[in-house]
Amino acid sequence: MRRLFQLEADLNIKVAGNREQETRPTTTVILAMSADGKIADASRTAARFGSAQDKAHLERQVALVDGVLLGAGTLRAYGTTLRVVRPELLEQRQQQGKPLQPVQIVCSRSAALDPQLPFFRQPVPRWLLTTPAGARSWQESEAFERLLVTETPIETIDWQAAFGQLWGSGLKTLAVLGGGALVASLLEANLLDELWLTVCPLLLGGVAAPTPVDGKGIMAALAPRLQLLEVKTIDDEVFLHYRVKKV
Ligand SMILES: NC(=O)c1ccc[n+]([C@@H]2O[C@H](COP(=O)([O-])OP(=O)(O)OC[C@H]3O[C@@H](n4cnc5c(N)ncnc54)[C@H](OP(=O)(O)O)[C@@H]3O)[C@@H](O)[C@H]2O)c1
Repeated sequence: MRRLFQLEADLNIKVAGNREQETRPTTTVILAMSADGKIADASRTAARFGSAQDKAHLERQVALVDGVLLGAGTLRAYGTTLRVVRPELLEQRQQQGKPLQPVQIVCSRSAALDPQLPFFRQPVPRWLLTTPAGARSWQESEAFERLLVTETPIETIDWQAAFGQLWGSGLKTLAVLGGGALVASLLEANLLDELWLTVCPLLLGGVAAPTPVDGKGIMAALAPRLQLLEVKTIDDEVFLHYRVKKV
């Protein structure tokens, strides 16, 4: 019988001097966007405009982490997730004593996901992060190895509790592969640490096109500030690495 993880641990950050001692997984958002700041076109199709170098960059980042967070909208758009396949990256994980693939964690309040998606046939560990209502339809299924169940009073995922569960399950580092709704939820919960944004040489436009952070938006005066850690340029793409400054 599958273990259902209930609201058990709240995020607990201890501050020692000026240094935060993490007791939750650290997060890095990795997204490709058009030069006008869209992560997909206005039809919200799968974004495949990044170059081969961008895909290799994404795979290198995924190879570094214990788990990958994927929004349900992203999974519905792509139907699959990105696996680590390069031999040198698989070897690196093996040398670090990590499982060959990070856990793929789908985030969805409703958990209304098509079990026929190719994602469910990919050789990766799959967990579902959802609410009690969402978990109901997957309890008898083997599609997910684990159901992580949390809920806020407004029936969305309780991110602090969820991150407590992920930390308790041994996940120290997470890659957040989008989309904009998931990133906005994590930003609102103050759970974002770093971002890798690839600026790709195209313009998508469209008020309905998703951006790296969607959600309700933030007033400029309250906007989280970023520190630029690194910039790389390869051909016409720019790879920007930011840290979210803690207030
Ligand atoms: N360019 C890139 O690098 C890149 C990367 C990823 C995605 N994308 C694009 O982004 C688009 C998808 O992004 P999106 O913003 O529409 O979707 P998304 O962020 O992938 O997923 C949104 C869904 O996640 C769940 N969710 C998010 N916050 C939640 C919360 N607080 N509580 C409970 N559930 C929550 C909900 O699932 P339920 O509705 O199931 O409850 C929500 O509908 C696609 O067009 C894709 O191509 C681009």
